[in-house]
Amino acid sequence: PATLGELAAAQGRYFGSATDNPELSDSQYTEILGSEFGQITVGNTMKWQYTEPARGQFDYADADAIVDLAASHGQVVRGHTLVWHNQLPGWVSSVPDAELADVMRDHITDEVGHFRGQVVQWDVVNEAFEEDGSRRQSVFQQKIGDGYIAEAFRAARAADPDAKLCYNDYNIEGIGAKSDAVYEMVRSFLAEGVPIDCVGFQSHLIVGQVPASFQENLQRFADLGVDVALTELDIRMELPRTTDKDTRQAADYATVVEDCLAVSRCLGITVWDYTDKYSWIPSVFPGQGAALPYDENFGKKPAYDAVFAALGGE
Ligand code: G3I
Repeated sequence: PATLGELAAAQGRYFGSATDNPELSDSQYTEILGSEFGQITVGNTMKWQYTEPARGQFDYADADAIVDLAASHGQVVRGHTLVWHNQLPGWVSSVPDAELADVMRDHITDEVGHFRGQVVQWDVVNEAFEEDGSRRQSVFQQKIGDGYIAEAFRAARAADPDAKLCYNDYNIEGIGAKSDAVYEMVRSFLAEGVPIDCVGFQSHLIVGQVPASFQENLQRFADLGVDVALTELDIRMELPRTTDKDTRQAADYATVVEDCLAVSRCLGITVWDYTDKYSWIPSVFPGQGAALPYDENFGKKPAYDAVFAALGGE
């Protein structure tokens, strides 16, 4: 095997990348996107703001473009994301309290139904917990209450019984208050028959700070009876890049890949785009970046070589 996608597939996993519509006009970018990776996540345009900009008016044109491109390369697609407090159209917060559960179910039913058979995993609910393990006070939490997450999963299952349904969050890679809260939710869902199949660990990490308990944490979720996945991996550094930072970043990438491979229920790994040219990091964390395996000119960084080797490449 010569690509990250092929190496992962040889181990029964996938190695994928997020992408976004504006980048698709960059032919150097799409060439690598289409050949190196076995899985694609739609980075923005499956979010509510794009797919239901007005109540009951659905628009999947941008997401369809990415799904069709992935299909043309034989890549599987993760759906991201159905219920999230961010990138919501303004009208959702004006829905009368008593109607929001129906609005949420209708949104899920339409979107999951639209992509039925084309999306293998859904991030059904994204980022519902605070760092201390309490529920985030999103509009869904405030107006529907604790039960909104279970309701979302039930609606998604009904709309596509074959897709794996995931809960997805950040800062849950290591064992701690937040991952404990997600663990307890998954445990109770399985006990109550709420349809959940997987947990996505976003994995927006920092060079030198990969949680030591990552593998142990993945394994405890797997032992509960769900699959796990690394869904938005990047490992950022203080700019500028140096040889030393690149070396340490490469070691961190290898560690994370090994953590996934050590857990048989770890389905695969997705980087949150593959090139520093299109990373979200510098715009949100000024002075930080260079978080991905390819540089801004599509050169392979030491992180790429480390992932390649960790996946068994020679
Ligand atoms: O589409 C508009 C464009 O019309 C406008 O000209 C431009 C000006 O700023 O903004 C564009 O929207 C941006 C959008 O990405 C599409 O590019 C938003 O400003 C920007 O905030 C938005 O950022 C996205 C972010 O989620 C929003 O929270 C990032 O691209 C996306 O990578 C990021 O992804 C999230 C995951 O969904 C969940 N986990 C964390 C991860 C990183 O924040």
